[in-house]
Formats: sequence, C-alpha cells, structure tokens
Amino acid sequence: MHFLVIGSGGREHAIIWKLANSPKVSKLSAIPGSDAIAQYATCHSLDVTNHELVVEFCKDNAVDLVVIGPEAPLVDGLVDSLQATGIACFGPDKYAAQLEGSKAFTKKICSDYNIPTAAYNVFDNLKDAASFIEGNQDYPIVLKADGLAAGKGVIIAEDKTHAIETIEYIFDGGFGSAGSKVVIEEFLEGEEASLFVITDGDAMVTLPAAQDHKRAFTGDKGPNTGGMGAYAPAPCMTSDLIDVALKKIVEPTLQALKDANHPYKGVLYTGLMLTKQGPKLIEYNARFGDPECQVLMMLLQEDLAEIFLDVANGTLKTQNLTQCDKSAICIVMATNGYPASYEKGSIIKNLPDDISSSDDIVFHAGTKKQDDMWAANGGRVLNVCAQAENFKLAHDSAYASVEKIDWPEGFFRTDIGKSAL
Ligand code: AMP
Ligand code: GLY
Repeated sequence: MHFLVIGSGGREHAIIWKLANSPKVSKLSAIPGSDAIAQYATCHSLDVTNHELVVEFCKDNAVDLVVIGPEAPLVDGLVDSLQATGIACFGPDKYAAQLEGSKAFTKKICSDYNIPTAAYNVFDNLKDAASFIEGNQDYPIVLKADGLAAGKGVIIAEDKTHAIETIEYIFDGGFGSAGSKVVIEEFLEGEEASLFVITDGDAMVTLPAAQDHKRAFTGDKGPNTGGMGAYAPAPCMTSDLIDVALKKIVEPTLQALKDANHPYKGVLYTGLMLTKQGPKLIEYNARFGDPECQVLMMLLQEDLAEIFLDVANGTLKTQNLTQCDKSAICIVMATNGYPASYEKGSIIKNLPDDISSSDDIVFHAGTKKQDDMWAANGGRVLNVCAQAENFKLAHDSAYASVEKIDWPEGFFRTDIGKSAL
C-alpha cells in the first residue's frame, strides 16, 4: 500500500521509519518530508493549506492512507477535505481537532462531562478579563490564548501586574487570532505526564505513558520549548493512574465527540497533571507529541501501518500496549539560541547515517544535506534516541551517542529522564 505522511520533523521521521518496517507498506511519500526522511520516502513540496492540491496528489499517486503528523492541517480540516473525496486518513476531523485547536472547546466538554481539570473562566474581551483578575487573590494564575499559538500561548502569571500585562498583550493581538478568547485557570501542582491513546472512535489502543521536558535548559530552567527530551514508560504513571485517567478523562471525552457525531479517529495526546486529588487534564493535542512519538515508535512492537489502517477503517481492537519490557529515551539537540532566534546552516559531524535496525537511533528534526554533509536547518535539530532493557541502560546509551556527535553550535539538556533514574 502507498502511505503518505504529512510533516517534516523528528516525529514524522520516526513514524516513517516505523512504517518502512511494515510488510503492508510498499510505497512511502511525504509532504514536505526532509533530506533525512528521503532515505525512506519520496518527498514532495506541496502547500498543505491548499486542500485541493493534496487531494489531487493523492488521486494521481493512488495513495491508500494519509497520516497527518502536525496539528495545523488537522485543525484546518485537511481530514474533512480528503475524506469528502473518499481518501482514507489517520487523524481527527476538523470538529474533533478542536480538542487541540480551542482550549475553550475542551473546557466546555470538561464541564459538560464532569472531567477533572483546572477550574477556569473564558473571556472574549479585555474589560471582563481584567476585572476578573482584579478580583483574583490566588497566584500564580494560568492565562491561555484559546487557539493554536505554536506552543507559546500559555503564560503562568506570578502576580496581578504580570497577569494584567499578559491579557493586554493577548487581546492586543500578541498571538494573532488565537487570542480572540482567553482561558484563565487555576494553577495546578504536581508531576506532568503524557498519555497517548489511538482510537477509531470506538476501540482504543493505549500506549506507554511518556514524560516530556518542556523547558529549554537543564534543571527545568529557561523558556518553554516544543520539548527538549522525552522518555517512556514514565514510572510516575502507574497502571492504576493510567486506568483512572482513561476512565475519568479520556473515555468521557471520546464519548462527548461521539455524542456530537464526530467520533475521534487518530491519536489523542492527553497532557496530565498528577495532583494530590488525582490526575487532572491540562490539555489535549490531536496528534502525537514531538519528541514523545520518537520513543513510542521505538517501543512499539506492533505493525504501525496495521494500526493506522484499522483506525481509518473502524476495525481497531482495544488493546493495552503499555506493558512494554523495554525503556526508550530521546534527547533533543537544538541550535544555540532556540527557542528564540538562531542561525541555520551549521555543520554537524559524526552523525550515524544508517538507522534501519538499531537500538540507538538519531531521528532528524531539522536538518538538510549540504555538500554531502548534514547541516542544522531549524531550532530543534536532532533527536538522539536509545532503547534498552531498562531505563538506565537506555539513558546512558543515548547520552553516549550525544557525546559522539560533533556540533559546537548545538545544545542539549543533561537531565532527560532524571526522575526515572
Ligand atoms: P500547554 O501548552 O497547554 O501544554 O501548556 C504548557 C505548559 O504550561 C504545561 O506543560 C504545563 O507545564 C503548564 N500548564 C498549563 N496549564 C497549567 C495549569 N493549569 N497549572 C499549572 N501548569 C500549567
Ligand atoms: N512535546 C510536546 C508537544 O508535542 O506538544
């Protein structure tokens, strides 16, 4: 079968690497893909916001299934456009993708279905939001732009002045149209974990829980990023906690979408805070996490292509894939300056080129080939991954690989998975 993957990052490199190992897959394409992804897939530069072009590509090239990696095309309704012409997809439709695309949409489901989450209010104008903040005595408080804001739309305000400045910035267009509404919510305390389920709307496959490291620098210092490293399974997410989160959070959410006649099809990424009162929902994403996906792909024993096809065809069987006997870790190497401004084009030496069958893999998040050498082409650049019988072995092996890579213009955190060690 011919699979098309939309995206170009480390997440999509890992998905394509896994699909390439499936006997079901005879041909792989990517839009836009990358020089590293080109080892497995034919890459095409097409504008994915032009749905007609993508539909035409799928028809001309007899694509059997489209897998959408990032959130923007999902929230933009690419699945609806493809399905309207009979093209099968892995990913939720535009309505269901609002779980990621609108924080107010998700909060409404939480309140209608009694799902544990931070107490909140939604505002669509500065005046009301400001008067709410004036009356609020508890700090810190969490301010969120409603829509997609490239991971930057959540601000934790330490005091009233900071909170007022922040909502002024948001309602002034600081996050564009994503900030036309603002969710103001209670600050939750606890450890964070990410739970991933793959669902066809009825059945559900539960993957090992993962932990991301969002801050840029070692010791949870510096600004928030897309994620500087991940590992799975995360020991803080015991099987009891996974059961509670599935029953109280994930299942009622999937029921809500079914009740709205838009059953969720794809992978649902549940961001959780493990509070003293139990797991609470922080946010949903309508896609795999990046870099969490990379560790999940390493741990997955099953045929990913079959799982994707079962979701598209509505033939998925409920399974618990959380009982893995290995651990995996991903260390992100990023260009100096990320997540603020950084330069592209620095040369990376000593990169392993063949990733076909190893326990130590470097997925490429943002590289390009330059005169037969690898060059940095983004903020997050490399995903150095390892898997082993236990977490310590995987951890040490991945850090040993990082040390071998010769890239003075890059940085990484030295404490990925520290709480699991
Ligand atoms: P998000 O972009 O929604 O993943 O939020 C980014 C980060 O902000 C999360 O990973 C949490 O660390 C933090 N965060 C979001 N909501 C809350 C909350 N209600 N209480 C505490 N921290 C939060
Ligand atoms: N690693 C966090 C995310 O993918 O949103």
